[in-house]
Amino acid sequence: MKKRIGVLISGGGTNLQALIDAEKSGIIKSGTIVCVCSNSASAYGLTRAKNAGIPTKVIRKNADCGGDIDEFSRQICVYMKEMQVDVIVLAGFLAIFGGELLREYADRIINIHPSLIPSFCGKGMYGLKVHEAALDYGVKVTGATTHLVNEIVDGGKIIMQKAVYIEDGDTPEILQRRVMEQAEWIILPRSVEYICKGLSDE
Ligand code: GAR
Repeated sequence: MKKRIGVLISGGGTNLQALIDAEKSGIIKSGTIVCVCSNSASAYGLTRAKNAGIPTKVIRKNADCGGDIDEFSRQICVYMKEMQVDVIVLAGFLAIFGGELLREYADRIINIHPSLIPSFCGKGMYGLKVHEAALDYGVKVTGATTHLVNEIVDGGKIIMQKAVYIEDGDTPEILQRRVMEQAEWIILPRSVEYICKGLSDE
């Protein structure tokens, strides 16, 4: 039976789109996306989910959970359980959650990070900031990493990595786009298939 995938997003949702397309094209065949949850009501990824006929929900840490991280985690967990989710994918989910969700979905939460971990990662390193840091440091190669999520930010077991060259004249925005095109949109769907297949074979 296909594993039921819940995707958490915060913004544009291009990684979510890559997952939707990968399910359509058969790259993801051991799982199916059953819901998308966003911590921001204005995330364009919600429109992508609706266009694909996938149920959505918004859970905001401040507006819905009084700024309490445990309550935020609990509400996400309740929704994931309600939708009978087996595997959670953080596809550009830029909030941090804690306890309950991690315990309930241990080894079943996948994150994509836009650098080669352990470089340019950890608390406060997300989105464009990661690419700014890589350019400031002057590295010549960056990339993306998929990993399992545990209590250490960006510290869980690595699933896949893909390297991307930095070019002269790169801005954080140009580099972000190249890392997405050449790495993120490729390794995220493959990693999701790998984890879902592994769970199906258990
Ligand atoms: C992606 O680059 C993703 O790797 C990054 O945010 C962007 C979201 O874009 N995630 C992190 O930085 C997590 N620490 P998207 O909404 O278009 O998928």
